[in-house]
Amino acid sequence: MLNDISSTIDLFQQLYSESARAIYFAPGRVNLIGEHIDYNGGKVLPAAISLGIYALISPRQDRKLVLNSLNVPGTVEFNLENEIVYDKKNLWANYPLGVAAALRQANLPLEGANILFQSNLPHGSGLSSSAAIEVLTWFMLQSEFGSSVDEREKIALQCQKVENEFIGVHCGIMDQFAIAMGKKDSAILLDTSTLEHEYIPLELNNYCLVILNTNKKRTLADSKYNERREQCEIALSLLSKKTGIQNLCEATVSQIEKYISEPVIRKRALHASTENQRVLDTCAALRSHDFIAFGNLLNESHRSLKENYEVSGHELDSIVDAAVKSPGCLGARMIGAGFGGCGLSLVEKQYLDDFSRNVKKLYAESTEYKAGLYPCTISDGVHKSTLV
Ligand code: GLA
Repeated sequence: MLNDISSTIDLFQQLYSESARAIYFAPGRVNLIGEHIDYNGGKVLPAAISLGIYALISPRQDRKLVLNSLNVPGTVEFNLENEIVYDKKNLWANYPLGVAAALRQANLPLEGANILFQSNLPHGSGLSSSAAIEVLTWFMLQSEFGSSVDEREKIALQCQKVENEFIGVHCGIMDQFAIAMGKKDSAILLDTSTLEHEYIPLELNNYCLVILNTNKKRTLADSKYNERREQCEIALSLLSKKTGIQNLCEATVSQIEKYISEPVIRKRALHASTENQRVLDTCAALRSHDFIAFGNLLNESHRSLKENYEVSGHELDSIVDAAVKSPGCLGARMIGAGFGGCGLSLVEKQYLDDFSRNVKKLYAESTEYKAGLYPCTISDGVHKSTLV
């Protein structure tokens, strides 16, 4: 696994004139189903993937964090004696700096360090590079400087707080949870209202999951994300006045149709309620190896995200459409926040080559981007790697 990282070890040496003391890895995540409901108390089904972010670290004698990334030029140097605040000019480094601020706020040890990140997770692709760098930084700094590493669930919650409060994106818990808690060849059925969770083995037999990268950056995603969240809060307050429910995902379709007349708010609520049910139906389909049913649920999820939740877009719709029209595909949908980024498809293995060729061709015909296709390997959550 570390062959591709050996040049990064050398680069660390050149950059910092010393060897790295340790290497850590945090995966990205896909979400099989249950989109845009982790901030509505719904159930979601994410999994950690083999693409992700490495970080190499060595301690410093002074109180500085010196951050580099092989993916973005420029060094960000920060003196830990100073107050840590969000600063636009720090770009990607705001994520590790936000984690440093949160560690300090939690009274956990924080020392100066040289850190080099390397990601093979396409940034802004909806595979959760931001949650990955947050969880990676927390886990690494605590492992290196703390007496023990917090429970993984607690790390996920702390990193969600960094994203909500330091970065200003009001995301749910799904991404950080999947990255901290992921398990090889399993998806996590997570109840986001209680954090109760169960690992669902992904026995896909003759099928495989293929990530569909639109290569369109997720512009608008953050502002529209916060707007969707507010619309769901309005929906819940309307429904709870009439029915007493406290969780939007528990509202029935007939309750929504009866008590919400405003068309946009009604559509948002309909998505939350039906998507939650699709998660439960997907688990049942996976348990009984009913891949046709799983594929249909992916298609229905996409339709709901497109029409009711309105978080898709031309590129995501085009790539999903190309996938479902291609050989061997049982279903496909957009994943993550939307407005660009990635989709996910379920494909019969024997058609993989034809499928990929056809998706690339159809997608190129309807957009100005080139599709990226990655068969998806489900891996473990954040961990320390060995240096040799
Ligand atoms: C982003 C957020 C998650 C989740 C998804 C949509 O990835 O970080 O919390 O809300 O969008 O399901």
